[in-house]
Amino acid sequence: MGLRLPMPTHPESRTISNPLTHPPRLPLVAPSILAADYARLGEECRSALEAGGDLLHYDVMDGHLVPNLALGVDMLASLKADLPEAFFDVHLMIERPDLFAKPFADAGAGHLTFHIEAIDGDNARALIDTIHDLGMSVGLAIDGPTPIEQADNLLAHVDLVLVMAIRAGFAGQAFDPAALDKIRYVRERVPATTRIEVDGGVGPGQASALLRAGADVLAAASAVFRVSPDQRASVITQLRGLEHQ
Ligand code: DX5
Ligand code: ZN
Repeated sequence: MGLRLPMPTHPESRTISNPLTHPPRLPLVAPSILAADYARLGEECRSALEAGGDLLHYDVMDGHLVPNLALGVDMLASLKADLPEAFFDVHLMIERPDLFAKPFADAGAGHLTFHIEAIDGDNARALIDTIHDLGMSVGLAIDGPTPIEQADNLLAHVDLVLVMAIRAGFAGQAFDPAALDKIRYVRERVPATTRIEVDGGVGPGQASALLRAGADVLAAASAVFRVSPDQRASVITQLRGLEHQ
């Protein structure tokens, strides 16, 4: 991947730096819009960024890999048109993620994470190359019940490892502390430039343990969006580990 010079397919992607590969600071906080008010989604995205969110986590679900439906390609294109400076971290919880790499690149995704449970090893390697060739960074997600060792052969090839601290599918579930051991396992095996994102049940109360374990991107839906907009900056500051409750 080091010698590739990918050409982003979405015009705005060419001008926006990727905070996952070129972080302006660490840790990064990624508000997950799954728990936003969908009737006012553009406004909600803007609120989360103005409150200090570094990038927006965008959950896509197909009702097959996970038992829920969420967000799609056209919604992302509309949000990107409304917020051209926003960086979208797209988390694909779908079967056949290979079919959607180009559509999400064209819609304005800057990063694409797919699930290890959705694809076998050889096809995963090919998909990683495809996503890089489309100009996006690549993440590999490991669902809560999946043993972390299944990711061993792919860790060296991705820009980000997404450790789920819940079973993927819904916002608002309780954080499973088993994620801390998984994060430590990954951090011992990847270079410091590989991001480790944690997703699911993440709130200010978990931040310091997660950061100490080696996570450097915190995705949070309920903690950011199920509080009033004037509380979001404080929540994001606490997630960054600068203040603790
Ligand atoms: C769930 C999604 C998460 C979800 C997290 O499968 O991948 O990104 O939005 O929601 P909270 O932070 O409420 O657990
Ligand atoms: Zn997610």
